Amino acid sequence: MSTIKLHDLNFTPFISEKELSEIVSSLVHKVSLDLDPDEVPIFIGILNGSFLFAADFIRKYTQNCEVSFVKLSSYKGTTSTEVVNELIGINEDITGRTIVILEDIIDTGSTLHKIYDCFKNKQVKQLKIATLFFKPDVYKKELPIDYIGKSIEDKFIVGYGLDYNGLGRNLPAVYQLTTEAT
Ligand code: IMP
Ligand code: MG
Repeated sequence: MSTIKLHDLNFTPFISEKELSEIVSSLVHKVSLDLDPDEVPIFIGILNGSFLFAADFIRKYTQNCEVSFVKLSSYKGTTSTEVVNELIGINEDITGRTIVILEDIIDTGSTLHKIYDCFKNKQVKQLKIATLFFKPDVYKKELPIDYIGKSIEDKFIVGYGLDYNGLGRNLPAVYQLTTEAT
Protein backbone atom coordinates (compact mmCIF):
# COMPACT_ATOMS: atom_id res chain seq x y z
CA MET A 1 0.00 0.00 0.00
CA SER A 2 1.34 3.45 -0.76
CA THR A 3 0.29 7.06 -0.20
CA ILE A 4 -2.90 8.11 -2.01
CA LYS A 5 -4.45 11.48 -2.84
CA LEU A 6 -8.19 12.23 -2.52
CA HIS A 7 -9.25 15.70 -3.65
CA ASP A 8 -6.61 18.01 -2.08
CA LEU A 9 -5.39 15.71 0.74
CA ASN A 10 -2.82 12.92 1.05
CA PHE A 11 -3.37 9.74 3.03
CA THR A 12 -0.94 7.03 4.13
CA PRO A 13 -1.64 3.34 4.82
CA PHE A 14 -2.96 2.81 8.35
CA ILE A 15 -4.88 -0.48 8.75
CA SER A 16 -4.44 -3.37 6.31
CA GLU A 17 -7.21 -5.56 4.90
CA LYS A 18 -5.90 -8.43 7.03
CA GLU A 19 -6.07 -6.42 10.26
CA LEU A 20 -9.57 -5.17 9.35
CA SER A 21 -10.71 -8.75 8.86
CA GLU A 22 -9.28 -9.71 12.26
CA ILE A 23 -10.98 -6.75 13.97
CA VAL A 24 -14.34 -7.62 12.39
CA SER A 25 -13.98 -11.30 13.37
CA SER A 26 -13.26 -10.37 16.98
CA LEU A 27 -16.31 -8.07 17.06
CA VAL A 28 -18.52 -10.85 15.67
CA HIS A 29 -17.15 -13.19 18.32
CA LYS A 30 -17.86 -10.75 21.18
CA VAL A 31 -21.37 -9.93 19.93
CA SER A 32 -22.22 -13.62 19.37
CA LEU A 33 -21.23 -14.52 22.93
CA ASP A 34 -23.75 -11.99 24.28
CA LEU A 35 -26.69 -12.91 22.06
CA ASP A 36 -29.30 -15.43 23.12
CA PRO A 37 -28.93 -18.33 20.64
CA ASP A 38 -32.72 -18.76 20.56
CA GLU A 39 -33.48 -15.30 19.27
CA VAL A 40 -32.93 -13.71 15.90
CA PRO A 41 -31.20 -10.33 16.20
CA ILE A 42 -31.62 -7.48 13.73
CA PHE A 43 -28.31 -5.98 12.65
CA ILE A 44 -28.75 -2.38 11.55
CA GLY A 45 -25.94 -0.76 9.57
CA ILE A 46 -25.61 3.01 9.62
CA LEU A 47 -25.23 4.24 6.05
CA ASN A 48 -23.23 5.30 4.22
CA GLY A 49 -20.02 4.61 6.11
CA SER A 50 -20.79 1.17 7.53
CA PHE A 51 -21.82 -0.63 4.34
CA LEU A 52 -18.58 -2.65 3.97
CA PHE A 53 -18.19 -3.27 7.70
CA ALA A 54 -21.84 -4.42 7.92
CA ALA A 55 -21.44 -6.70 4.88
CA ASP A 56 -18.31 -8.34 6.31
CA PHE A 57 -19.71 -8.55 9.85
CA ILE A 58 -22.90 -10.25 8.68
CA ARG A 59 -20.98 -12.71 6.48
CA LYS A 60 -18.93 -13.77 9.49
CA TYR A 61 -22.02 -14.14 11.72
CA THR A 62 -23.11 -17.78 11.52
CA GLN A 63 -26.56 -17.81 13.23
CA ASN A 64 -29.89 -16.63 11.83
CA CYS A 65 -30.23 -12.86 11.72
CA GLU A 66 -32.08 -10.06 9.97
CA VAL A 67 -30.39 -7.08 8.37
CA SER A 68 -31.50 -3.52 7.82
CA PHE A 69 -30.01 -0.08 7.31
CA VAL A 70 -30.58 3.45 8.54
CA LYS A 71 -29.08 6.43 6.74
CA LEU A 72 -27.69 9.26 8.85
CA SER A 73 -25.37 12.05 7.86
CA SER A 74 -23.26 14.47 9.90
CA TYR A 75 -19.86 14.92 8.30
CA LYS A 76 -18.73 17.70 5.95
CA GLY A 77 -15.16 17.36 4.70
CA THR A 78 -12.97 16.23 7.59
CA THR A 79 -15.01 17.55 10.55
CA SER A 80 -18.20 16.48 12.28
CA THR A 81 -21.01 19.05 11.99
CA GLU A 82 -22.84 17.98 15.20
CA VAL A 83 -26.13 18.29 13.29
CA VAL A 84 -27.18 14.78 12.34
CA ASN A 85 -29.92 14.23 9.77
CA GLU A 86 -31.97 11.07 9.42
CA LEU A 87 -32.18 10.50 5.65
CA ILE A 88 -33.68 6.99 5.70
CA GLY A 89 -35.34 5.64 8.86
CA ILE A 90 -36.31 2.21 10.08
CA ASN A 91 -39.39 0.63 8.45
CA GLU A 92 -39.52 -2.79 10.13
CA ASP A 93 -41.56 -3.51 13.27
CA ILE A 94 -38.77 -3.83 15.81
CA THR A 95 -40.92 -4.05 18.95
CA GLY A 96 -39.49 -6.57 21.42
CA ARG A 97 -36.48 -7.32 19.20
CA THR A 98 -32.77 -7.34 19.92
CA ILE A 99 -31.09 -4.67 17.79
CA VAL A 100 -27.37 -4.50 17.17
CA ILE A 101 -26.26 -1.24 15.54
CA LEU A 102 -23.26 -1.53 13.21
CA GLU A 103 -21.49 1.83 13.00
CA ASP A 104 -18.27 2.55 11.10
CA ILE A 105 -16.73 5.04 13.52
CA ILE A 106 -17.75 6.98 16.62
CA ASP A 107 -16.10 10.38 16.78
CA THR A 108 -17.88 13.17 18.75
CA GLY A 109 -20.83 10.85 19.45
CA SER A 110 -23.43 13.10 17.80
CA THR A 111 -24.43 10.34 15.40
CA LEU A 112 -24.64 7.86 18.28
CA HIS A 113 -26.88 10.30 20.16
CA LYS A 114 -29.15 10.45 17.11
CA ILE A 115 -29.20 6.63 16.92
CA TYR A 116 -30.34 6.38 20.58
CA ASP A 117 -32.95 9.03 19.78
CA CYS A 118 -34.31 7.11 16.78
CA PHE A 119 -34.78 3.94 18.85
CA LYS A 120 -35.91 5.34 22.20
CA ASN A 121 -39.67 5.05 21.60
CA LYS A 122 -39.58 1.78 19.67
CA GLN A 123 -39.87 -0.59 22.67
CA VAL A 124 -37.05 -2.83 21.53
CA LYS A 125 -35.91 -5.62 23.83
CA GLN A 126 -32.35 -4.37 23.84
CA LEU A 127 -30.21 -1.98 21.81
CA LYS A 128 -26.51 -2.80 21.47
CA ILE A 129 -23.93 -0.64 19.74
CA ALA A 130 -20.98 -2.13 17.84
CA THR A 131 -18.53 0.27 16.23
CA LEU A 132 -15.56 -0.64 14.07
CA PHE A 133 -13.54 2.41 15.14
CA PHE A 134 -13.70 4.77 18.12
CA LYS A 135 -11.86 8.07 18.72
CA PRO A 136 -11.76 8.29 22.56
CA ASP A 137 -10.08 11.72 22.61
CA VAL A 138 -13.01 13.39 20.81
CA TYR A 139 -15.94 11.47 22.27
CA LYS A 140 -18.14 13.97 24.14
CA LYS A 141 -21.08 11.83 25.29
CA GLU A 142 -21.82 9.50 28.18
CA LEU A 143 -23.81 7.07 26.02
CA PRO A 144 -22.80 3.42 26.27
CA ILE A 145 -20.85 1.78 23.43
CA ASP A 146 -21.07 -1.99 23.84
CA TYR A 147 -18.42 -3.22 21.38
CA ILE A 148 -15.42 -1.36 20.00
CA GLY A 149 -13.31 -2.85 17.18
CA LYS A 150 -10.31 -0.55 17.52
CA SER A 151 -9.72 2.75 19.34
CA ILE A 152 -7.69 5.18 17.24
CA GLU A 153 -6.11 8.60 17.68
CA ASP A 154 -7.94 11.74 16.59
CA LYS A 155 -6.83 11.74 12.97
CA PHE A 156 -9.08 11.63 9.95
CA ILE A 157 -9.21 8.27 8.16
CA VAL A 158 -10.67 7.00 4.87
CA GLY A 159 -11.28 3.65 3.20
CA TYR A 160 -13.35 0.52 3.92
CA GLY A 161 -16.56 2.55 3.66
CA LEU A 162 -15.25 5.82 5.12
CA ASP A 163 -14.96 8.80 2.80
CA TYR A 164 -13.44 12.22 2.43
CA ASN A 165 -16.05 14.34 0.61
CA GLY A 166 -17.39 11.31 -1.20
CA LEU A 167 -14.10 9.68 -2.18
CA GLY A 168 -12.27 6.72 -0.67
CA ARG A 169 -15.16 4.46 0.36
CA ASN A 170 -14.10 1.77 -2.12
CA LEU A 171 -10.57 1.38 -0.73
CA PRO A 172 -10.23 -2.12 0.79
CA ALA A 173 -7.83 -0.88 3.50
CA VAL A 174 -7.86 2.19 5.79
CA TYR A 175 -5.67 5.24 5.24
CA GLN A 176 -4.86 8.13 7.59
CA LEU A 177 -4.55 11.80 6.71
CA THR A 178 -0.88 12.72 6.45
CA THR A 179 0.41 15.51 8.68
CA GLU A 180 3.27 16.40 6.34
CA ALA A 181 2.95 19.49 4.16
CA THR A 182 2.63 18.62 0.48
P1 IMP B 1 -19.78 11.68 15.10
O1 IMP B 1 -21.24 11.99 14.92
O2 IMP B 1 -18.95 12.93 15.32
O3 IMP B 1 -19.49 10.64 16.17
O4 IMP B 1 -19.25 11.12 13.74
C1 IMP B 1 -19.64 9.89 13.30
C2 IMP B 1 -19.75 9.80 11.79
O5 IMP B 1 -18.88 10.73 11.13
C3 IMP B 1 -19.28 8.43 11.40
O6 IMP B 1 -20.37 7.56 11.31
C4 IMP B 1 -18.60 8.66 10.07
O7 IMP B 1 -19.52 8.48 9.03
C5 IMP B 1 -18.10 10.08 10.14
N1 IMP B 1 -16.68 10.13 10.56
C6 IMP B 1 -16.17 10.34 11.81
N2 IMP B 1 -14.83 10.30 11.82
C7 IMP B 1 -14.45 10.05 10.55
C8 IMP B 1 -13.17 9.87 9.92
O8 IMP B 1 -12.07 9.92 10.52
N3 IMP B 1 -13.22 9.63 8.56
C9 IMP B 1 -14.37 9.55 7.83
N4 IMP B 1 -15.58 9.71 8.39
C10 IMP B 1 -15.63 9.95 9.74
MG1 MG C 1 -21.20 6.60 9.86
